[in-house]
Amino acid sequence: MKKLFLLFIPIILFLISYLSKEKTSLSTSISLKKATSLNKDRYRLNCVECFEQYVEDVINNGLDIFHYPSGAMPAGTVSKEEAKKIAAFMATLQGFTPTNVEYVEEGKALFYGNCTGCHGVEGKGQEGYFPDLTKRPLEGFKRLATQ
Ligand code: HEC
Repeated sequence: MKKLFLLFIPIILFLISYLSKEKTSLSTSISLKKATSLNKDRYRLNCVECFEQYVEDVINNGLDIFHYPSGAMPAGTVSKEEAKKIAAFMATLQGFTPTNVEYVEEGKALFYGNCTGCHGVEGKGQEGYFPDLTKRPLEGFKRLATQ
């Protein structure tokens, strides 16, 4: 009888680990819901305001469209004001003239201080883990934007 009980231990352990996995996949589907609350209808590819809006949305709300093993882009790592400045700098990487040119210098410093930790040297990303933020157009923006 005792032996039979011992047999159940691995089964119980398996069930516990399975159930906790279920829980985490539940929470990622919730963050996906959040991430899709972007202003998608405003994204058009060749419009600087749209690009800046996209970057601000991603910074403020997070993003989870690629499902990388590294996880989602976390929301709110910088303030909304800082997000605007970073968006202006990132617009220059796309060859756009930013809406607020005076934000570019500060935005650049904020970008290097807050984003390259994950997005790699010069923001060029790491294939399969962190998107390249210098790519024209940005992969995620291309997917979400209308032409
Ligand atoms: C903790 C790591 C991490 C940090 C810090 C981080 N990001 Fe991200 N970022 C990610 C990941 C992971 C993704 C891909 C998310 C997905 O699956 O959609 C991403 C996606 C993005 C995208 C969408 C890229 C595309 O192809 O459209 C933008 C824009 C972006 N990040 C900007 C920034 C900016 C700006 C900062 C600094 C304020 C920043 N990120 C900081 C991890 C990070």
